Amino acid sequence: MADFEVRELGLDDVEAAVHLRAAAFANPVNDVQREVVRSRFERGGSLGIAVDGRLAGMLTVHPLGQFFGGRPVPMGGIASVAVSVEYRGRGIAPAMVTGALAAMRDAGQVLSTLHPATTGLYRRLGWEIAGAFPISTLPARSLSSLPPGEPERLRVAGADDFPLLRDAYARAAPARTGWIDRPEWFWDHAYSGTAHGYSVIAFDAIDGDGIDGFALCKQTPGPASFGFGLEVAELVARDATAVITLWRAIGSFGAQVETVRAVGATATLLPFLLPEQDLRQVEKNDWMTRLVDAPGAIAARGYEPAVTAAVHLEVLDSIAPWNNGRFVLRVANGVGTLEPGGTGEIQLGVHALSAIYTGYGSALDLAAIGALHGPVEPCRALDAVFAGPRASMLEFF
Ligand SMILES: CC(C)(COP(=O)(O)OP(=O)(O)OC[C@H]1O[C@@H](n2cnc3c(N)ncnc32)[C@H](O)[C@@H]1OP(=O)(O)O)[C@@H](O)C(=O)NCCC(=O)NCCS
Repeated sequence: MADFEVRELGLDDVEAAVHLRAAAFANPVNDVQREVVRSRFERGGSLGIAVDGRLAGMLTVHPLGQFFGGRPVPMGGIASVAVSVEYRGRGIAPAMVTGALAAMRDAGQVLSTLHPATTGLYRRLGWEIAGAFPISTLPARSLSSLPPGEPERLRVAGADDFPLLRDAYARAAPARTGWIDRPEWFWDHAYSGTAHGYSVIAFDAIDGDGIDGFALCKQTPGPASFGFGLEVAELVARDATAVITLWRAIGSFGAQVETVRAVGATATLLPFLLPEQDLRQVEKNDWMTRLVDAPGAIAARGYEPAVTAAVHLEVLDSIAPWNNGRFVLRVANGVGTLEPGGTGEIQLGVHALSAIYTGYGSALDLAAIGALHGPVEPCRALDAVFAGPRASMLEFF
C-alpha cells in the first residue's frame, strides 16, 4: 500500500471537504452541508489525506455502539469515504481506512461497521458482509389483513415526543441483533429528517409510561395521478402488539397508497406476519463489519447463557497484527473471551470471523467457499456461539 500521511481533519478543512463530498456524492455545496461537515469535524474522527497541499481524500468515523447478544459493543461507523477523481486508483482510500483502523483501536472502538459502495475494497481490508439492509416494497392493502392490534393506543407524535422516541428505541434496540446504540448527537441528526416531510405515529405504553413503539413515515410521489407512496424509514416496537398495531396502521393508508416502501430493519419481521409473500426486496446495501480488536470485541458482546464452547482459532489479519495469530475462544455463562494460544484448529481470515461474530455468516457456509478451513464440529460450535436474531439495522450512514 502506498505511503500517505493520514491526518485528523479540522475546521480549516471544511470548505475543501464540502467540495470533495459534492464531487463524490452529488451533495450540494451550501450552508447546510458546511454545517454538517463542521459539526462532524468538531466531534472528531474525520480523517483525510492531502496530496500536493490539496485535500485528496476523506472519511468520517462515527463513534457509535452496536447491539450484539443484548450488549452495546463500541463501534466505529465509517462513512463518507471519498477520494477526489484526479487522485483515484493510487491507494488513498485503503490508506485512509487503514489509518481509521488504528484510530478506532486507540478510541476503544472494538468493532467497525460501514455501508459499502463497493464490497471488495473493504473485504480486502478485513471487513465482511455482516448484516442486512434491504429496501422492500409491498402493497399497502396486504397490511390490512393483519389483526388490528390495539389502535386506541396510536397517536400522531409531535416534536415534544422526541425524548419518548429515544426511550422507546433504547428499550427496544438491545433485543435486536446489530441495531445501533444511538448517542445523543445521532438523534439530532436522525430526527432533523422530521423537518423534511417525515411524520411519526406513536404507540402509547399502558398507564402513561412513555411509548412502546413508533413508525417514522414519509409520503412520496405515487405511480399514478391518484394517491401517493409511503416510505417507512423506521419502525421500532417493544413487543408484538406494538409491531402489529403499527404495521396495520400503515396499512390503513391503503385507500390512497398502493405501495409501501420498507427501509432496512423495518422489513425484517414482516415476512413472518404477512399471510402471503407480498414483500419484495427491490434494493439492498448489506452492511459490512470488521473486528478492530478481536479479543475486545469478543469480550464486549453478550452470548446465550445456555451455550458453552471452546474453539481453537488461527486468525489471519495482515492489516491489524494485534489480531493475527492463534487464539482460544471460550464462551460460558453468557461471557466470551479470546486469549492467545491453542492449536489453531480452525483457520480463517479476520473478515470471515467478523461475519460469524454478528451471526450473519455461518462458519459452515464460509467453510463451503474456502474462507475458513477446519473440521466440521468446531464450525458447528462457532455457529452455536453466535446464533441469534438476524443482524440488521435501521440506519444508513
Ligand atoms: C471508491 C473510492 C473511495 C475508491 O478510492 P481510491 O483511493 O481510488 O481507491 P483505489 O482505487 O486506490 O482502490 C482500492 C481498491 O478498491 C477497488 N476499487 C476502487 N474503486 C472501485 C469501484 N468503483 N468499484 C470496485 N472496486 C473499486 C480498487 O480496484 C482497489 O482494489 P485492490 O485493493 O485490489 O487494488 C473512490 O473511487 C470514490 O471516492 N468514489 C466516489 C465515492 C464513493 O463511492 N465512496 C465509497 C463510499 S463506501
